[in-house]
Amino acid sequence: MAIKTSRSSANGSILIHTELCTVCGKCVEVCKDFSLIIKDKKLQVNPDPVFGCIGCGHCMAVCPNDAIEISGRTLKLDDLFELPTQKDAATYQNLLALLNRRRSIREFTDQCIEPEMIEQILTAARCSPMGLPPSDVQVLVFDSKEKNRAFAEDFCKYLEGMRWLVSPWFLWLMRPLWGKATHEVFSGFVKPLFKVYTEKMKEGINAVTYDAPLAIYFYGTPFCDPADPIVAATNAMIAGESLGLGTCMLGAVHPLIQQGKNAKKFREKHGIRSKSREGLFVIFGHPSVTYQKGIKRTFAAEDIYQQQ
Ligand SMILES: Cc1cc2nc3c(=O)[nH]c(=O)nc-3n(C[C@H](O)[C@H](O)[C@H](O)COP(=O)(O)O)c2cc1C
Repeated sequence: MAIKTSRSSANGSILIHTELCTVCGKCVEVCKDFSLIIKDKKLQVNPDPVFGCIGCGHCMAVCPNDAIEISGRTLKLDDLFELPTQKDAATYQNLLALLNRRRSIREFTDQCIEPEMIEQILTAARCSPMGLPPSDVQVLVFDSKEKNRAFAEDFCKYLEGMRWLVSPWFLWLMRPLWGKATHEVFSGFVKPLFKVYTEKMKEGINAVTYDAPLAIYFYGTPFCDPADPIVAATNAMIAGESLGLGTCMLGAVHPLIQQGKNAKKFREKHGIRSKSREGLFVIFGHPSVTYQKGIKRTFAAEDIYQQQ
């Protein structure tokens, strides 16, 4: 039985060109579905794989002789391209410099982001690894400051109708049900967030998407691995940085537009195709501030696993 995703309900098809195959076994080694076997000194399709071909394409990408073709699950031979050389790839030093230079930017000039640059960001984001191919990440592009503001204004109106969610009686009622940590997040973060979003918007200040000239919402279909939109958003953010843009991830909108009838209406109104377990907005723009220093960050814990 195939693993179903929103874009595929059948397994990939494996075509072996036996006349090209040298039985080197590289494809067998990389296929973690065990879809390929060598039997009687020939490469063959395993009649008893784990899931059935998921269409990752690794076997055809590793084959030195173009002896394997995978099709289905959105994949086709045309999707193969020549690998960039290591020389053309970013060095660790380059990458670290890019990551060290990044600051969350929420202040932008009025310069818009050209469609070519948006496409460059999306091209990089499409390279993201995914829980299971084909990717079930969906993206919604807000390609102007005006679109971002209109969305943020409507989001603030929507929040006005949800004030009960941060009201003292509701927080008190939910405290024993959702536990201390969630209670503290709601009283210490979500409640003031409602206030700043809605009150600032009344003053004409967009504290939701900061009137960025570009925002991209990454979210999943119901089949999506919850981490996939976050991984894609991260690659998009890094791509934006490499193009000299300022970027900022925005985590607050997504969880507030998931549950209930009003959330569904809001999603439908704004062309958001489905609910998603995880999702993230990333804003992009030409920065109007310049940071002078980097800031060293640490993790909450960094343990070395102790073998038992
Ligand atoms: C998952 C995630 C969600 C975030 N959500 C928001 C947000 O909703 N609004 C915002 O202004 N910044 C948001 N940020 C930016 C953080 O506040 C920012 O990373 C933090 O201030 C540290 O600054 P730095 O990114 O420059 O190191 C988010 C960042 C991440 C990674």
